[in-house]
Amino acid sequence: MQNKHEKVEKNVGLFFLFAVLAISVGGLVEITPLFFQKEMTTPVDNLKPYTALQMEGRDIYIREGCSNCHSQMIRPFRAETERYGHYSVLGEHVWEHPFLWGSKRTGPDLARVGGRYSDDWHIAHLTDPRSVVPESNMPAFKWLNTNTLDGELTGKKLETFNWLTRNRSHKDENGKAIPLYTQAEIDGASEAVKGKTEMEALVAYLQSLGHALK
Ligand code: HEC
Repeated sequence: MQNKHEKVEKNVGLFFLFAVLAISVGGLVEITPLFFQKEMTTPVDNLKPYTALQMEGRDIYIREGCSNCHSQMIRPFRAETERYGHYSVLGEHVWEHPFLWGSKRTGPDLARVGGRYSDDWHIAHLTDPRSVVPESNMPAFKWLNTNTLDGELTGKKLETFNWLTRNRSHKDENGKAIPLYTQAEIDGASEAVKGKTEMEALVAYLQSLGHALK
């Protein structure tokens, strides 16, 4: 028995093989069940797809790196739920591509920031954070007020999300998947956002966050 053990420990190839095997089994045991759990792929009842404008706002959130300082993931601890509201559940996030959970909290969590402030507050805050929160060290995002959207790709984005979420959308009474967006919404997406400022889009996105479970 001791001899066999020694064989494995002194042979790099064999040791590597067994190490990979051990890690793979451990990984599979954790990951495989997730593919078969319904709550991993089922949206919560009230989940609504982003409107065209909110979708553009989300892309601006990604572009400006907001998730480097803000998480969108409330953990199930009292200190967090007292401050931010109900902890995050997967059913609220099944349509997110990519997930914007984040892991850094220089600023507060934003998973349920929708409706917490007025649009005007957000505009003032994003234009000049110190004007509303004197001790803030959040950077200003002034240019969002003057950059406008051309809407060229908005329809394509909605179409892509229809495809990405094809197995995870709401179902009708016959169990048939309901796509997130109708063809009319996709066709009208460009017109819906064209000429709007990036600020309007970003604020629309922020105001949409976290309502599905309230
Ligand atoms: C360098 C880090 C940093 C970045 C980048 C950043 N923020 Fe912040 N944010 C903060 C800090 C710190 C606060 C808390 C102070 C304050 O309210 O200004 C905050 C507060 C907020 C709040 C108020 C949240 C609440 O519950 O009071 C919102 C909304 C917000 N940020 C949105 C954004 C958006 C949208 C972006 C990207 C355009 C962004 N932040 C980028 C650091 C950051």
